[in-house]
Amino acid sequence: MAHETLLQQMRQQAQGALSLNIAFIGVTQGIFEAFARLNKANLTELVKHVHLDQGYLRRWCDAAYAFGYLDQQNQQFFLTEQGDLMRPSHPQTLMPIAIQSVLSAHMAERAASLMSSGERPGESVLAERSTILPWFGSMIETSFAPLFQNVIVPGIPAFAEVDQHGGLAVDLGCGNGWYLRALAQRCNHLRCLGIDGFAENIKQARQHTQQVGLQDRVSFVTGDLLELELNEPADLMAMNRALHHVWEQGLDRLLPWMQHNLKPGGYVVIWEPAWPADPLVLRQPDYRNMAFQNLSEHVQGNHFLKPEEICDAFYSVGMPARTYLFQNGLECITVAQKPPVV
Ligand SMILES: C[S@@+](CC[C@H](N)C(=O)[O-])C[C@H]1O[C@@H](n2cnc3c(N)ncnc32)[C@H](O)[C@@H]1O
Repeated sequence: MAHETLLQQMRQQAQGALSLNIAFIGVTQGIFEAFARLNKANLTELVKHVHLDQGYLRRWCDAAYAFGYLDQQNQQFFLTEQGDLMRPSHPQTLMPIAIQSVLSAHMAERAASLMSSGERPGESVLAERSTILPWFGSMIETSFAPLFQNVIVPGIPAFAEVDQHGGLAVDLGCGNGWYLRALAQRCNHLRCLGIDGFAENIKQARQHTQQVGLQDRVSFVTGDLLELELNEPADLMAMNRALHHVWEQGLDRLLPWMQHNLKPGGYVVIWEPAWPADPLVLRQPDYRNMAFQNLSEHVQGNHFLKPEEICDAFYSVGMPARTYLFQNGLECITVAQKPPVV
């Protein structure tokens, strides 16, 4: 490719990153939502509404105008269609892309600073940025809840089967609890318990669950999933994007724990990004994100898994497993079953 063409391409990419940085500020500081409430506002009106510093807001509005998130007329700013789509409450919100972009910059900086020592500080790096931390849950929920509700639950027979006789579903590493709320809404006979190591996640999980009135059937505890004591064996155990978090350090404890705490005939349902066996696949645009994220997982002491590795792990403890692929093979659900008593 000619140097000039490459230069143009790189400049465009750099502008894309800047645009998402501006969006990140607008999302996390509630400015997009404020504009939606105000419709139109000059700087003074905006300051009163969002309680942010006028100097910072002025510069942000100029930048948001430059990148097409705001329009202006007679000293008043208002949202463009693109700005409106950044509102976290918009049904088709693009918020996750903005959050992910700044999180990626943070993780790139951490990877660069740790590369010489090889240190892998763990998940605590995710909590280092106070503006990013509260958005994890809704970032994952917005990205995956529609796929789960509309495609995965109807596509995996284990859910309907377990719901038919009712029982307990446990979500290990539940984040903000979105998966259990979605499951409980579709499966009326299930009781649900979520566990997560981050207290912030459990706080959000309880709040959101109360808001949708599911607190009688869906509860949460903070703690290490490898230390969890269940009061009764589970009919279904789910792990969403959490198995790779315990794979390197805790798999030898997790698998026997699952077997011990599952009812005979009960299911484990694992959802993980499907790391491709063939590195050529990483060149595909969707897989590029996964490749970057796997570097950021490395900082946290994790790595993404190939579907066949997950299946093999369950077979090795006597739990037959099969995989289901979604989103053009990017997302993999592994369903393993504890053999029923005959
Ligand atoms: C990528 S997040 C996925 C969260 C959630 N399952 C979802 O789909 O939104 C992984 C989660 O696993 C949790 N986690 C990882 N290891 C854990 C452990 N040993 N005990 C409890 N939670 C853990 C983390 O706190 C984090 O919330």
